[in-house]
Amino acid sequence: MRRLTRRTFLVAVGGLVAVVASGLVLSKYSFRQPAPVEPRRLTKYLDPLPFPSVMQPTELGGTYYEVEMTQFTQKLHSQLPPTTLWGYNSTYPGPTFVVRSGTPIRVKWISRLPTDHLLAASIDHAIHGAETRNPDVRNVVHLHGGVVPPGSDGYPEDWFAPGGSRTYRYPNEQQAATLWYHDHALGITRLNVVAGLAGFYLIRDSMEDGLNLPKGQYEIPLLIQDRTFNADGSLSYPTGGQDDPETPPIWMPEFFGDTILVNGKVWPFLEVEPRKYRFRFLNGSNSRFYRLSLDSGQSFRQIGTDGGFLSSPVQLKKLLIAPGERADVIVDFTGLSPGTQILLTNDAKAPFPDGDALVIPEIMQFRVIPLTQPDNSTIPTTMPFVPLAQTPAMPVRELTLNEYKSKQDNPIMLKLNSSMWDDPVTENPKLGATEIWRLISSTEDTHPIHLHAVQFHVLDRQPFDAEKYEEKKELEFVGPPVPAEPNEAGWKDTIRANPKEVTRIMVNFGSFTTFDPTIGGNYVWHCHMLEHEDNEMMRPYKIMP
Ligand code: C2O
Ligand code: CU
Repeated sequence: MRRLTRRTFLVAVGGLVAVVASGLVLSKYSFRQPAPVEPRRLTKYLDPLPFPSVMQPTELGGTYYEVEMTQFTQKLHSQLPPTTLWGYNSTYPGPTFVVRSGTPIRVKWISRLPTDHLLAASIDHAIHGAETRNPDVRNVVHLHGGVVPPGSDGYPEDWFAPGGSRTYRYPNEQQAATLWYHDHALGITRLNVVAGLAGFYLIRDSMEDGLNLPKGQYEIPLLIQDRTFNADGSLSYPTGGQDDPETPPIWMPEFFGDTILVNGKVWPFLEVEPRKYRFRFLNGSNSRFYRLSLDSGQSFRQIGTDGGFLSSPVQLKKLLIAPGERADVIVDFTGLSPGTQILLTNDAKAPFPDGDALVIPEIMQFRVIPLTQPDNSTIPTTMPFVPLAQTPAMPVRELTLNEYKSKQDNPIMLKLNSSMWDDPVTENPKLGATEIWRLISSTEDTHPIHLHAVQFHVLDRQPFDAEKYEEKKELEFVGPPVPAEPNEAGWKDTIRANPKEVTRIMVNFGSFTTFDPTIGGNYVWHCHMLEHEDNEMMRPYKIMP
């Protein structure tokens, strides 16, 4: 309720102001929202789904890559003028890394971006890291899901300005999985990602090779993001959110676009043969969750989570995927006659689970065409899976998710453990230790909590009396613990922490300590709703030797 009211107001007022004042430079305290393009004007399923290209090393067969961040224009829909974007190697999404487990690579990330931010009017200089003493254009790249040394992790303060670069080492000492890379600069991650800075990073291994899954043209990554466009094709992101003197002047607690893009195309279609496909779903949206299903009513099978394969496929009719999460899914179109059209739909509310912002019910379309070659792929019944062992004395950390409200009943700040980004490090597990983290959320929304440097297991979720907890700090459970969903029972790096529940995860901090001479040298854990992450819902953590 609270958020819809404000957003509706913004769009209505913003539209008016834009008509009157377009071209004027308005103070950061005024509302300025250019007239948005009416998304219904964009014909759905007009453009084919693009496939991101494969990232190439500097030398054929090599393990060293140079990637440039640039500003460029790209057509995101045939009826939309070209959109100015930021991307890796001048494409949005960025090219897909395809690497082998056990073969490390090095990547030199270079910024050739202009010094003016693409979404300059949306920068909130009152937010940590975005102070006016820092350049507006700042970037750093994080490999999400990667177990990497701390100097290569893309610490949010390890940003560099245009002309700068960082060379990172990715060990790839982990199993086949769907990772992704994206910007992570402190205080402006939400804007840098909206501008286009995201791409896939696929790790392959011999176990996967042995599985006979659909491959080649039948294995397709699907990056889902929501955006809003101005009539001239430019990206629209709110530039003034608050009329409350206690809040940052521009920042909005969530961004929900009114248009869906998959792999950088607005509401695309994909021609599919009547056979099995492997789709790597990635929710790369800032704050929007998706609960995906096929309007044919058919089920599909999830074979992998964020960090690798499940022990066996999980049959689903609906797939809930939060910002940052990935799902490796087999969809079988076998037996469908050419000409059949199937929609990938969404019914997740925003903010999830009970918000009343605009729900976007359609994602993309599948069109069945004739089979070109027999489908010899198979869906495995089991996959080799070695879970993390419980150890006798696992340290337990209690970590709260907090939402602070202002007088108008608007959330003004979100925090982890009631702490600010700049507060001293409190999460400092020992190298090799396995810990239980209890994520205690008395907020109203589900927050996707992401830990860098690790893959972990979800143990269970248990409802508690949130009011009592807020008042007396006493944790009283009001129901039994519910084990992780079957499709979460694998390796996770991002997990939904639901309202008024304690979500327990079991994490081994086994790979790297934070002793690193480079800047930062800490890892982070945070909410992956990028608006939350940008405004204090992120904490540094250390792995101690
Ligand atoms: Cu996908 Cu710390 O981020
Ligand atoms: Cu959050």
